[in-house]
Amino acid sequence: MTPIEIKSDFLSALREANHIAILTGAGVSAESGVPTFRDALTGLWAKYDPMQLATPEAFSRDPETVTRWYDQRRLNVLKCEPNPAHRALAQWQRSCAAGGRTFTLITQNVDRLHQAAGSTDVIEIHGSLIEWRCLITQRLQECRGGPFPQYPPRSDAGGLLRPNVVWFGEALPEEAARAAEHAAGFCDVFISIGTSGLVYPAAGYLHLAKSSGAVTAEINRDPTPATDVADYSMLGKAGEILPALLQALG
Ligand code: OAD
Repeated sequence: MTPIEIKSDFLSALREANHIAILTGAGVSAESGVPTFRDALTGLWAKYDPMQLATPEAFSRDPETVTRWYDQRRLNVLKCEPNPAHRALAQWQRSCAAGGRTFTLITQNVDRLHQAAGSTDVIEIHGSLIEWRCLITQRLQECRGGPFPQYPPRSDAGGLLRPNVVWFGEALPEEAARAAEHAAGFCDVFISIGTSGLVYPAAGYLHLAKSSGAVTAEINRDPTPATDVADYSMLGKAGEILPALLQALG
C-alpha cells in the first residue's frame, strides 16, 4: 500500500470542525464487493443500459425484468459485509458525538452497508435496495430474505412491489434531500468519498459547502470534476485512506 499523505492543515481543519458532513458513493462499497455504476469493466452500467432498467417507464413497460434485476442486486448486497471504509466512518461518527460535534453522513448508496457498520441517522438520498414499496398502499417493507416468490413481486395488499430506490427522472426523497442540503450548507468540513461526482443534486453538495465557507475534500480512486474544486484531494482507496485519516486524527 502506498503511503497516504494527509495534509496537516486538513487535519487541523478537521480537529477544529464542529460540523462535519460526508457524502459517499459507490466507491465506498466497492471494497465490499458491491459493483459501482460507471467503472468501465466491472460497473453495473457496463453490462446494463440504465435507461432500460432504472426508470419508472422501464418498470411500467417490463416490471418482471426490472424487479428481477433489482432483486438480484438486493440478494448480492445482502451477502456483502461492510469494509474498513464503512467502519472508519461509523467510528468517526461515534467519536464526533462523544466530543459534542455533529457528523452527518449522506449517502448515494442503496446497500445499507453504512448502517451495517454502525453508522446512524444515515441520509439515504437515493433510497435503499433493501426496502420495497407497495404501489397500492405506498407502504414500505424491509426485504432481507431470499428471492421473491414471483416477479414482479406483490405485497400482501396485492399491489406490485418496487424497490424503494430513486430512478432516473424521479425526485429525491424530500426529507432526505432537505437534510442533505442543510448539512452541506452548514458544515465546517465537507468530504466527498467514492463518487464520480456526476449525478446531481448530490454532485452539487461539495460546491454548496464550499460556497458556504466550508473546507472541502475529496477521497476517491480516480480524479473527478470535483477534484479541482475541493481544497484537498486524496486519490486512493477509501478502505485505506479513511482508516489512515482516523489514525492521523488520533
Ligand atoms: P460511480 O460508479 O459513478 O463512481 C464510483 C466512484 O468511486 C468512481 O469515481 C471511482 O473512481 C471510485 N472508486 C471506485 N472504487 C473505489 C475505492 N475502493 N475507493 C474510493 N473510490 C473508489 O458511482 P456513484 O458516484 O456513487 O444513482 O454514482 C452516483 C449515482 O449514479 C448512483 O447513486 C446512482 C447512479 O445513477 C441512482 O441510482 C439514482
